[in-house]
Amino acid sequence: MNTHKVAVIAGDGIGKEVVPEGLRVLEAAAKRFDMKLNFTPFDWSCETYAKTGKMMPDNGLDQLRPFDAIFLGAVGYPGVPDHISLWGLLIPIRRVFDQYVNLRPVKLFCGVESPLKNAKPGQIDYVVVRENTEGEYSNVGGRIFEGTENEIAMQQTVFTRRGVDRILRYAFQLARKRNKHLTSATKSNGIIHTMPFWDERFQAIAKEFPDVRIDQFHIDILTAHFVRFPEKFDVVVGSNLFGDILSDLGPATVGSIGIAPSANLNPERKFPSMFEPVHGSAPDIAGKNIANPIGQIWSGAMMLRHFGEEKAADAIERAIEEVLVKPEFLTPDMGGKASTQVLGKAIADMVSK
Ligand code: NAI
Ligand code: MG
Repeated sequence: MNTHKVAVIAGDGIGKEVVPEGLRVLEAAAKRFDMKLNFTPFDWSCETYAKTGKMMPDNGLDQLRPFDAIFLGAVGYPGVPDHISLWGLLIPIRRVFDQYVNLRPVKLFCGVESPLKNAKPGQIDYVVVRENTEGEYSNVGGRIFEGTENEIAMQQTVFTRRGVDRILRYAFQLARKRNKHLTSATKSNGIIHTMPFWDERFQAIAKEFPDVRIDQFHIDILTAHFVRFPEKFDVVVGSNLFGDILSDLGPATVGSIGIAPSANLNPERKFPSMFEPVHGSAPDIAGKNIANPIGQIWSGAMMLRHFGEEKAADAIERAIEEVLVKPEFLTPDMGGKASTQVLGKAIADMVSK
């Protein structure tokens, strides 16, 4: 029997409500598919920050290192500035554990209403691959002459050949496993150093994957295509900034933010990878038991896939598809009246069957 060690950080707000449902479904999958999941909870959150002045202890990353994966809810809460919760927990985990792939599947299921008028279930099914460790999100830069008329702010974008090549290669490999079509997001007409470099590497790596059809679009028109022709995509790869934008836009076209999952992967498995829903801690609905747990549960399926537990991952994704056409199990964000627990239990039951 395979054993997988998972660090669980529920975090803040609805993170504390959806994570237990994610665990419930994972337990059901473990039972049915003959694997062992060892969960270890960590109470790191904005609440911890309020008490200790730190989002996680100084040796937090060392505590996480021995795990196979991190299963995270959401962090962030009013009273603690978002840059503290982000740079105090999520960003160090992503960077120190070299989770250079951020993966977000975008799929329109039956039973979910898309804000796109003509979208039909089954038509939209693609994955956004975002570079997660460098690019536009660097802390290189600064300000001078602060507070004066001459004030200057500068922020450096950092593209390394190693960083660009490895994310492109990952995206090509993923496309090869799917429908063999990869789209690259660029902006080489406006950003004239880093983006032409990205395009050059895209063409170079493409030579290793002659079986994968490629195209590329500038980010501005690409966002329009995500809305007008979403059926044309299979795998879409972008730098940290462009991938960030696309990976919010994509899920928004296939319904509630409550169902969108994500993975932060270290594909070489040198470090733990992290699995979390796309949504945040939703302070506006926290404590009401109405949060949609599907984003968390689907992230759990992505975690199992990373462990190589394909059958268990498929079973969870099938259960999500099945439950979405049953209005009695849906939470208010999807037009239903069910609670977080009712929806979580319904999915767990389907996985057990
Ligand atoms: P949010 O995703 O928490 O909420 C946006 C809107 O979507 C809210 O109206 C919320 O009620 C709704 N919503 C989100 N998840 C839902 C779910 N599962 N079921 C039903 N409705 C749901 O984003 P917001 O409000 O911008 O951020 C709130 C806090 O979360 C901030 O502190 C932010 O920094 C943090 N955050 C953390 C993230 C993470 O941990 N990775 C990601 C995004 C935000
Ligand atoms: Mg984002």
